[in-house]
Amino acid sequence: MGLTAHNNANMGDIAETILLPGDPLRAKFIAENFLEDAVEYNTVRGMYGYTGYYKGKRISVQGTGMGGPSMGIYSYELIHFYGVKNLIRIGSAGALNKDLKIQDLVIGMAASTDSNFGAQYNLPGTYAPSASFDLVKKAYDIAKEKRIDAKVGNILSSDVFYSDNGMESLKTWSKMNILAVEMEAAALYMNAARAGVNALCMLTISDLPFEGVATTAMERQTAFTRMMEVALELA
Ligand code: ADE
Repeated sequence: MGLTAHNNANMGDIAETILLPGDPLRAKFIAENFLEDAVEYNTVRGMYGYTGYYKGKRISVQGTGMGGPSMGIYSYELIHFYGVKNLIRIGSAGALNKDLKIQDLVIGMAASTDSNFGAQYNLPGTYAPSASFDLVKKAYDIAKEKRIDAKVGNILSSDVFYSDNGMESLKTWSKMNILAVEMEAAALYMNAARAGVNALCMLTISDLPFEGVATTAMERQTAFTRMMEVALELA
């Protein structure tokens, strides 16, 4: 029996630093292929979570599911029930900037959003969810060492994948120099900021929405593995 309705883990089962892919099967893949002595701590709803070691450092990896609400639940519980301090999302995104190509790496310095997640804080204005500078800088430096040309900037966390207005709203965001669209970073950044812990979202470009282009499974795997190697070094 775990500490929450969504997680089998007990206090101490999860490391202070965690990698958060949206897809739980990615978490399983990372644990099986990159972590030593990995122990499975969660299977509830198939949202697999593991803790193991990378280069001697204790690290966890867990799926979050898709969208702000799902990320909101898992990240809140990891922070408040399990004491996690560094949360690193590793996901995929659609490019909104014309200079981005399939497989490119994007670091979300800030996450604009069309979601109402931030309404709970009753702020007298518009909040700008942002990553932890320390994690942004480290991720950028590690990518550079590995000769990966990471783009750093503002991303969009959208609640809508299939939009009634087609590409119109994405085009509007693109005018504001938003690099890419995904669905989880803003909720993660807000939960982390509210709790005073560190968060980062790293993304590989999986599709070009304005051009109707999507990655093949092979391209997705290659780009994901490269990003994961940066994330593991960062952790
Ligand atoms: N994740 C990957 N591609 C996406 C897109 N086009 N929109 C939202 N989330 C995404």
